[in-house]
Amino acid sequence: MCGITGYIGTREAWPILIEGLRRLEYRGYDSAGAALVNNGSLSVYKAKGKVADLESAAADKDRSGTAGIAHTRWATHGEPNTANAHPHLSPSGRLAIVHNGIIENYATIKSRLRQEGYEFKSTTDTEVLVYLIEYLMQKHGKGLLEAVQSALAEVVGAYAIALADRDDPDMLIAARKSSPLVIGIGDGEFYIASDVSPIAGCTDKVVYMEDGEIAIMRRGEPLKIVDLKNVECRHEVRPVPENIGLAGKDGFAHFMLKEIHEQPDCIIDCMRGRVDGPLGTVRLSAVTENKERLSAARRFVIVACGTSWHAGLIGKQYIETFCHVPVEVAYASEFRYSNPVIDSSDVVIAISQSGETADTLAAIELAKSKGAFIYGICNVVGSSIARATDTGSYIHVGPEIGVASTKAFTGQVAVLLLLALNLAEAMGTMKPETYHATVKALMEIPDKMREVLKSDKVIAGLSRTFTYAHNFIYLGRGFSYPVALEGALKLKEISYIHAEGYPAAEMKHGPIALIDAEMPVVFIATKNAMYEKVLSNVQEIKARKGRVLAVVTAGDKVVSSIADDVLEVPETLECLEPLIVSIPLQLLAYHIAVCKGKDVDRPRNLAKSVTVE
Ligand code: G6P
Repeated sequence: MCGITGYIGTREAWPILIEGLRRLEYRGYDSAGAALVNNGSLSVYKAKGKVADLESAAADKDRSGTAGIAHTRWATHGEPNTANAHPHLSPSGRLAIVHNGIIENYATIKSRLRQEGYEFKSTTDTEVLVYLIEYLMQKHGKGLLEAVQSALAEVVGAYAIALADRDDPDMLIAARKSSPLVIGIGDGEFYIASDVSPIAGCTDKVVYMEDGEIAIMRRGEPLKIVDLKNVECRHEVRPVPENIGLAGKDGFAHFMLKEIHEQPDCIIDCMRGRVDGPLGTVRLSAVTENKERLSAARRFVIVACGTSWHAGLIGKQYIETFCHVPVEVAYASEFRYSNPVIDSSDVVIAISQSGETADTLAAIELAKSKGAFIYGICNVVGSSIARATDTGSYIHVGPEIGVASTKAFTGQVAVLLLLALNLAEAMGTMKPETYHATVKALMEIPDKMREVLKSDKVIAGLSRTFTYAHNFIYLGRGFSYPVALEGALKLKEISYIHAEGYPAAEMKHGPIALIDAEMPVVFIATKNAMYEKVLSNVQEIKARKGRVLAVVTAGDKVVSSIADDVLEVPETLECLEPLIVSIPLQLLAYHIAVCKGKDVDRPRNLAKSVTVE
């Protein structure tokens, strides 16, 4: 993943670069570094750890210079240490590079350069790229731009790069293929960033770079973009999307907790302008504009990763139940290599909070090449996936900073519900009274979410009793099964406790062997069509002395009398339960992780935006 920032202009670059890195720290935070171009020299500062560690490491150093590049890393090649932190220098020290992505053929290039006598200082793929560029300049007499073009033509993989040249302090170069990169255009200055957030507040003009483009930012000259063959590319200057900027914690201890508590407002924002309360109807502009294409779909294929994939499993149930069209849900990473049978009669729904996930983007490109129509469900406005799709709907939940996704999940579920309802109405596959009743019940969800959030303190207390556990099982059925998967994912992501989600009835085909008095089992046992069946599953666990924590419908007496602990949620339609049942599970994971002293917002080894395969 990694985050890149760059600046060239009239102001001091260091504070701009550091502030930019802070806003991009969600992309990776195992090491950070910056290079400043000043008076014919390159000053490079690096530190293992977070951006704050870089600031401390450089605190007593000369940080002057009006041009520079910087990086916050999520390690792919080479362990997180200072040597592997970016920027990496070319052999002579003339060029500095920062890179997000993976150079897949780096080993071949590296051994070739080694034969030429080059020695490497890091174990990264990135250093190989900057060495190759300088090699092409020195041994083949190319200018910098030409050498960059030749080097990028040779590398296989994904990259967003920014380059600074000690001998040309008035210019920065940036390039992209499959990893995001945005250029901000100010008054006599340019900004480079992996997403718009570092640029917001500095200028309102941005250019989203496209694959295969190289940007040349020269002081006092307009932005120039060329391709690898040096053909000039036209570029569109766009405004910075609204609501971008550095979100604060608003008094919450962590972004994750704040984002969990934002969910009632997020659902309201998500429904705004789309749901007509008095009429009980839903209108998504993407459905209105593409009604015929969507209604004619013989099949929907949902592609996504992580939490977004869990939302997709719920979306499948919405579309199949309301629209009576078959839906497949695929991990984007598997879909792209599975020779999928897909054609122009299919609609692919790509779900991604960040809109930058490399596997999801690749799945979209594959589906497109086979003629499928692509519907995107993203949070980040203007992101690569949002731009790559034929149409789509934003979830409008605002920036999500906590690495473990919470409000984006419920936002995705809400948009999938709106999509299925709107489509079902257009296709005439849903009884009007069921359609209107579902819309009306959806409108009550924000208040019901607020009700659930009141149990925050109770869950915090309960969580303290679970810190002993090394394993957890989460069980649910129907709409609650993907919620169980998501609950387990939240716990493992931030507390590092092993947790598995399972369909409740499937539990007896294996996982039941794990049950003993030590094993916490979280049941979603709300009053719905599956209630009696789940009740039997609860009994099966209790008979083996498992410790049952059940999420139940308010007022439930039966499960409550058997379970060790219960968390109540207000009653709603079964199809809407994921929106409120997710919340106690998010809070449970959050508080257990806090009790265990974990870095909730920046869990180890994870990154918010996964722009590598
Ligand atoms: C990473 C994040 C997850 C997220 C997944 C998919 O693994 O840590 O929280 O669910 O990527 O991300 P996307 O932005 O495509 O929804």
